[in-house]
Amino acid sequence: MDTIAASRARREPSGAALFLRRWLAHPLRMGSVIPSSPALCRRILTHGWPEPGHAVLELGAGTGVISRAFLEAGLPPERLIVVEVDPGLVAHLRDTLPGVTVLEGDAKMLPALLPPAFGGRIGSVICGIPLVLQPLAAQLGFIQAIAAVAPGRGFLHYSYCATSPLSARKTGLRAKRVAWTPLNLPPASLWRYSN
Ligand SMILES: C[S@@+](CC[C@H](N)C(=O)[O-])C[C@H]1O[C@@H](n2cnc3c(N)ncnc32)[C@H](O)[C@@H]1O
Repeated sequence: MDTIAASRARREPSGAALFLRRWLAHPLRMGSVIPSSPALCRRILTHGWPEPGHAVLELGAGTGVISRAFLEAGLPPERLIVVEVDPGLVAHLRDTLPGVTVLEGDAKMLPALLPPAFGGRIGSVICGIPLVLQPLAAQLGFIQAIAAVAPGRGFLHYSYCATSPLSARKTGLRAKRVAWTPLNLPPASLWRYSN
């Protein structure tokens, strides 16, 4: 990250302007024009806090607002792993989340991306990738990648859809809406998916 971008990241860690620029470049991949709200982050914390000694894995970390909420609530940075496909966002995450493991790449490649040291230590998976905009084959790719690195854990997924963004019939997952907040733009539901 260059000096100007780094000082901007320090002034504005939520990265709202950067988020909007990345949305203009890749609207379907971003899926939202602004980062998740504090209200949504609080709900994710409530449902996604890992058991002692285990790590949180966040897929599609954007500018890192959810990660930052976990850190501010006391999760040690060495127990947080984030995956992000956009190189500009990866640079922002590396600059603003010291001590956190930031992996650059497609989350479908998780088994190859995740350092072996985290094997068996993922306690909670949070997926912010807009899965509803993906074809079924890609949705299944993400689901299999999560199951490979965090077997039996399932995952949390937030979405702006009125109904489940993943089809239980087509994916074989069980879906439960565990929270909803109107205090997000757009209003968001938090889903828990399990096998
Ligand atoms: C709706 S944004 C969520 C950002 C952030 N978690 C938040 O709550 O503000 C979705 C994010 O997923 C990332 N993403 C999309 N496809 C991805 C993929 N295949 N692998 C990793 N990240 C991906 C996008 O670049 C974007 O940052």
